[in-house]
Amino acid sequence: MNSGNNNTALVVGAGGGIGRAVAERLLHGGWQVLGVSRQPQSINHPQLSWYNGASDETEIEQLVAQLEDFRGRIQRVVVCSGVLHSDAQALAPEKRLEELTAHGLMSTMAVNTLLPGLWLARLLPLLKDSPHCVYATLSARVGSIGDNRLGGWYSYRASKAALNMLLQTAAVEYSRRARRVKLLAFHPGTTDTQLSRPFQGNVPHGKLFTPEFVATQMDRIMSGLQADGELSYLDWQGKAIPW
Ligand SMILES: NC(=O)c1ccc[n+]([C@@H]2O[C@H](COP(=O)([O-])OP(=O)(O)OC[C@H]3O[C@@H](n4cnc5c(N)ncnc54)[C@H](OP(=O)(O)O)[C@@H]3O)[C@@H](O)[C@H]2O)c1
Repeated sequence: MNSGNNNTALVVGAGGGIGRAVAERLLHGGWQVLGVSRQPQSINHPQLSWYNGASDETEIEQLVAQLEDFRGRIQRVVVCSGVLHSDAQALAPEKRLEELTAHGLMSTMAVNTLLPGLWLARLLPLLKDSPHCVYATLSARVGSIGDNRLGGWYSYRASKAALNMLLQTAAVEYSRRARRVKLLAFHPGTTDTQLSRPFQGNVPHGKLFTPEFVATQMDRIMSGLQADGELSYLDWQGKAIPW
């Protein structure tokens, strides 16, 4: 493995729809990519290293230990972890308050809030000496409290709102302890992946994006960000979303 290249990106959830497109986009742009996924390696590229795991705290700690060689060298992080529905876990977004269950809320928070929070916490020592790093976590516009006029999707909304608060709180601490790292909460827009597939019926024409388009937008937006001690909450156009 070549750990001498400074142009290194970490993509967590590189087996998902958006994660895979982000990894491919970065590889195409000449980055060395460290891909983390629960899935077997699905992209073959000489600049890609694949790490399996990332489903719980122990696995994240083991993975971060394996990334020690990259301390101070990771310039980009994209954490894609997220769930909206799952047959295997009997998860579906709630249409009515009566559908809210402990299982639904806790399982959704575990993936959408806790895992990205653990990555923020465990990666801090590896990133704190990076000369420049932009660190994006996939959030969602439905995590905006100010923007919530439609209601529904209690667990998903709450998990992303809580994620945003974790990110904002971490931004305060990163600004002191890892001040050259810029944090970003990113809304990709409705993107054609298995996560959105059951809910694409009402998406206006031209507003269902390919993962490749989203990866290109993210790359462009992340390239333009500088560490300023703040968390940005941006959509696929680079426009700020109200909290
Ligand atoms: N698609 C959209 O319209 C849309 C809109 C707004 C926000 N988002 C957000 O974008 C992110 C990526 O979603 P996607 O559209 O690419 O969906 P996807 O294809 O279903 O990918 C799901 C992602 O979450 C990870 N993941 C799922 N369950 C996990 C678990 N139990 N433990 C660890 N990792 C888990 C997967 O990682 P593996 O590589 O390990 O499979 C993968 O990166 C999510 O945070 C989602 O909330 C998506």
